[in-house]
Formats: sequence, C-alpha cells, structure tokens
Amino acid sequence: MNKLGIPGQIVPLAIIGVVVIAAFIAARMLFVPDTFGEYGHYRASAVEEIASQEIVYAGHEACNDCHDDIFETKQESKHRDVSCEACHGPAADHIEAPDEFTPTAPRGRGYCPLCHGYNPSRPSGFPQILPKTHNPGKACMTCHDPHSPVLPHAPEDCSACHRDIANVKQVSHHATLSCRTCHDVPDEHLIQPKFVRAEKPANRERCGQCHDRDSDSPREIPRINIETHGERNLCWECHYPHYPEVGK
Ligand code: HEC
Ligand code: HEC
Ligand code: HEC
Ligand code: HEC
Ligand code: HEC
Ligand code: HEC
Ligand code: HEC
Ligand code: HEC
Repeated sequence: MNKLGIPGQIVPLAIIGVVVIAAFIAARMLFVPDTFGEYGHYRASAVEEIASQEIVYAGHEACNDCHDDIFETKQESKHRDVSCEACHGPAADHIEAPDEFTPTAPRGRGYCPLCHGYNPSRPSGFPQILPKTHNPGKACMTCHDPHSPVLPHAPEDCSACHRDIANVKQVSHHATLSCRTCHDVPDEHLIQPKFVRAEKPANRERCGQCHDRDSDSPREIPRINIETHGERNLCWECHYPHYPEVGK
C-alpha cells in the first residue's frame, strides 16, 4: 500500500497500460491507410489502383478475329481449355498493332513441362512425362502440334498418365503385377480416357484368385482364407492395392 491506499504494483501496471494504448493509437494513425475499412477489411483505394492498371492480356476470343484457323483447331483439341496467351504471353499490344508487336512462341523444351513434367501432386490421369527421358534433344513440336496435341500413337504404358500409381506399385509387393491383372481396360481408354472408362475390381474374388488358400497360384504368394479373412469388407478397405501392406 502507498500513501493513497493503492497497492504498489498497480502504478507501474497502469503506466504500462497507458503506454500500450497510446502506442496502439499512434500506430493506427501512422500506419493504417486513410481508406482502410471503408468497404471492408481492406484498403478501399486498392480497388481503383488495380482497376487503373494497364490491361496486358487480350483474352483468347480476341485471337479468333485473325487466327481463326488456329483458334478452331485448338477448340477441337485436348488443349481447348489452355488459353492462347498461356503459351504466347500477354498479347494486348499485338491485337492493337499486329505488325509492330508479335508475341513470342515457346519453342524450347523447357516450357511444356511446366504443365506436363511429372509432379506427384497432379491428378492421376493427367498426361505427364519425364522431360529428361522423353525423346531428349528434340523440340516437343517435332512430334506434337501445340495447337492440337494428338499423340503419335497410344501410350504403351499406363504410367504415361498414372505415373503416381505406377511409381508406388513399382516398389511394392505387387511390383510384378501388370495393371491389367486387376483392371479391365478398353484400349480406347488410352486415347480418350475421359470418355472410355477403365474398370476397378468389383469383388474380393479378384484378389482371391491369387491369395485364397485354395487358389492354384504360385506357392510363394501369401495365403488367406477368403471365407473368413476380413469377410465383412472389401480387401482394399484394409490393404491399399497398389502397395499392399500387412499390419503387424
Ligand atoms: C488484328 C489481327 C490479329 C489479331 C486479333 C491477333 N493476331 Fe496474331 N498475328 C497477326 C498477324 C498479321 C501476324 C503476323 C505478323 C508477322 O509475321 O510479323 C500475327 C502473328 C502471330 C504470331 C506469330 C509469331 C511468330 O513467332 O511467328 C503469334 C504467336 C500470334 N500472332 C498470336 C496471337 C494471339 C495469341 C492472339 C490473341 C491474343 C493474336 N495473335 C491476335 C494478326 C493478329
Ligand atoms: C500449348 C501452347 C500453345 C497454345 C495454347 C497456343 N499456341 Fe500458338 N504456338 C505455340 C508454339 C510452341 C508455336 C511454335 C510452333 C512451331 O514453331 O512449330 C506456336 C505458333 C503459333 C503461331 C505461328 C504460326 C504457326 O502456326 O506456327 C501463331 C500465329 C499462333 N501460335 C497463334 C496461336 C493462337 C491464336 C492460339 C489460341 C487459339 C495459340 N497459338 C495457342 C504454342 C501454343
Ligand atoms: C497451361 C498448361 C499446359 C501447357 C503449358 C501445355 N499443355 Fe498440353 N495439355 C494441357 C491439358 C489441360 C491437356 C488435356 C489433358 C486431359 O485431357 O486430361 C493437355 C494435353 C496434352 C497432350 C496429350 C494429348 C492426348 O491425346 O492425350 C499432349 C501430347 C500435350 N498436351 C502436349 C503439349 C505440348 C507439346 C506443350 C507445349 C507446346 C503443351 N502441351 C503445353 C495443358 C497444358
Ligand atoms: C520424337 C518425338 C517426340 C518428341 C520430341 C516429344 N514427344 Fe511426347 N510423345 C511422343 C510419342 C510417340 C508419345 C506417345 C506414347 C508414348 O511413347 O508414351 C508421346 C507422349 C507424350 C505425352 C503423353 C504422355 C505419355 O508419356 O504418353 C505428353 C504429355 C508428351 N508426349 C509431351 C511432350 C513434351 C512436353 C515434349 C517436349 C519436352 C515431347 N512430348 C517431346 C513423341 C514425342
Ligand atoms: C492418356 C492418359 C491415360 C492412360 C494412358 C491411362 N489412363 Fe487411366 N485414366 C486417365 C484419366 C484422365 C482418368 C480419370 C477419368 C475421369 O475421372 O474422368 C483415368 C482413370 C482410370 C481409372 C479409374 C476409373 C474410375 O472409375 O475411377 C483406372 C482404374 C484407370 N484409369 C486405369 C488405367 C490403366 C490400368 C491404364 C493402363 C492400361 C490406364 N488407366 C491408362 C487417363 C489415362
Ligand atoms: C492388385 C490389383 C491391382 C493392381 C495390380 C493395380 N490396381 Fe489400380 N486399383 C485396384 C483396386 C482394388 C482399386 C480400387 C481402390 C478403391 O476403390 O479404394 C484401384 C484403383 C485404381 C484407380 C482409381 C483410384 C486411384 O487410386 O486413383 C486407378 C487410376 C488405378 N487403380 C490405376 C492403376 C494402375 C495405373 C495400375 C498399374 C500401375 C494399377 N492400378 C494396378 C487394384 C489394382
Ligand atoms: C496375380 C496375382 C495377385 C493378385 C490378383 C493379387 N495379388 Fe496380392 N500379392 C501377389 C504377390 C505375387 C505378392 C507378393 C508376394 C511376395 O512378396 O513374395 C502379393 C502380396 C500381397 C500382400 C502381402 C504384402 C506383405 O506385406 O507381405 C497383400 C496384403 C496383398 N497382396 C493383397 C492383395 C489384394 C488386396 C489384392 C486385390 C486387390 C491382391 N493382393 C491381388 C499377387 C497377387
Ligand atoms: C478388415 C480388414 C481386412 C480385410 C477386409 C482384408 N484383410 Fe488381409 N489382412 C488384414 C490384416 C490385419 C492382416 C495381417 C494379420 C493377419 O495375418 O491376419 C492381413 C493379412 C493379409 C495377407 C498376408 C497373410 C500372410 O500370411 O502373410 C494377405 C495376403 C491378405 N491379407 C490378403 C487379403 C485379401 C486378398 C483380402 C480380400 C479377400 C483381404 N486381405 C481382406 C486385414 C484385412
């Protein structure tokens, strides 16, 4: 207690409190921009600043006016959803003055792999290559028309589009199994995968053909009794089929 009857520790605490509040108010006045909070939790003048930026993209419809042949080819192709300017760069200047500004074309081998280089986070089924081993030394355009990328022939291997799964399987107990052991795949799936579906195993017997104790598969394959082993579930509710493991 001091002379005023206030506990001693209150005074320094009150001083710290006042300093903190003063610092907060000062910081708000100094650092928070004037238009902050006008519309929401952001700087209102940012809207005008962004709107006043020069437009550098023309939008892909604009290309149709003069390059309708390429435009139509692309619309019919697997690149229909890839905008012209995704490859040719911003082209607003070009449509204003086609002879003065010509867009560049990505002719080197480095560009296409930005989308097609193997990356495990891409969805399974997206066409991917390993740029180092996929026909090295030649420009992609020697074999693929960028405006209509038809494959010269159907991929021989499922890994062309399912490399993620193929990579996992390769180091698993199922490494020696062909994908088609478990999947019925029409050949058309390799060309039009979104229209012609591959099938997934439908029942436990698909696995039982090798693993059931009564099956006549090679002896080194581990056996279970298909009648009693995990009988209430599908096998792949407990074992990942592309990398089966046995819980210990
Ligand atoms: C007003 C007509 C016009 C429009 C619209 C237009 N172009 Fe062009 N483009 C041309 C002409 C003309 C040339 C040939 C110029 C030259 O050879 O000097 C050309 C050439 C090109 C080239 C070739 C460059 C090269 O390396 O040979 C590309 C790529 C191109 N345009 C892309 C586009 C894209 C992408 C769009 C849409 C954003 C577009 N153009 C819209 C008229 C147009
Ligand atoms: C996937 C990337 C990609 C897309 C999408 C793309 N282009 Fe191209 N384009 C290229 C490449 C690469 C070349 C160079 C081809 C070569 O040299 O053989 C090229 C060449 C061109 C040329 C030069 C003339 C020719 O036919 O070789 C024009 C014009 C052109 N593109 C316009 C367009 C237009 C218009 C669109 C949209 C409708 C478009 N491109 C979409 C990659 C693309
Ligand atoms: C912005 C991303 C993007 C870029 C860049 C790109 N592509 Fe594609 N490509 C796609 C998409 C999307 C598909 C369609 C995939 C699908 O059908 O699932 C595709 C499909 C393909 C296919 C498969 C066709 C088939 O029948 O299965 C080939 C080959 C291809 N592109 C080659 C190229 C080449 C060569 C370049 C460079 C000139 C290129 N791509 C650049 C996005 C891209
Ligand atoms: C010498 C010709 C040739 C060159 C060069 C070439 N490809 Fe291919 N590409 C093919 C053939 C043939 C296929 C089809 C089947 C296969 O072998 O997998 C294919 C398939 C593809 C596929 C589908 C996935 C696959 O593996 O089947 C993509 C994506 C692709 N190529 C992109 C590219 C890109 C990107 C480049 C440049 C870095 C390129 N290609 C260079 C011939 C070529
Ligand atoms: C050209 C690329 C490509 C090739 C080659 C390819 N697939 Fe596919 N696959 C896809 C795409 C894309 C999907 C996704 C289709 C969808 O979801 O619409 C898919 C889906 C699947 C599915 C899932 C079907 C479902 O109902 O969920 C299986 C299973 C499959 N593929 C197996 C295979 C097997 C096995 C091979 C080799 C014999 C193969 N695929 C070759 C592109 C391909
Ligand atoms: C031992 C049998 C077996 C083998 C071998 C096998 N699969 Fe599968 N696969 C399955 C089963 C079972 C499912 C369904 C899993 C589920 O629904 O949870 C499946 C699901 C899939 C799917 C759809 C779901 C996903 O994981 O994306 C694709 C795509 C696929 N397999 C592709 C392949 C490819 C490509 C190969 C060869 C590299 C292959 N499979 C080898 C049994 C197998
Ligand atoms: C064509 C025969 C064949 C089919 C069909 C098959 N497998 Fe296998 N499976 C094998 C072989 C071969 C091994 C490896 C034996 C070894 O490692 O020596 C194996 C191993 C296993 C293992 C043991 C892994 C470990 O850690 O020891 C499990 C679990 C398994 N498979 C589950 C399945 C499931 C689930 C299916 C159905 C989706 C299936 N298998 C379909 C041949 C098959
Ligand atoms: C409810 C979960 C579950 C289901 C469903 C299931 N398993 Fe298993 N599986 C296990 C467990 C846990 C083990 C390890 C312990 C054991 O041997 O019982 C195992 C072990 C195995 C083994 C190794 C046996 C050995 O002696 O090494 C094989 C092969 C196998 N399962 C195949 C299958 C097949 C094929 C199916 C479908 C017909 C299936 N499993 C369904 C949970 C399951």
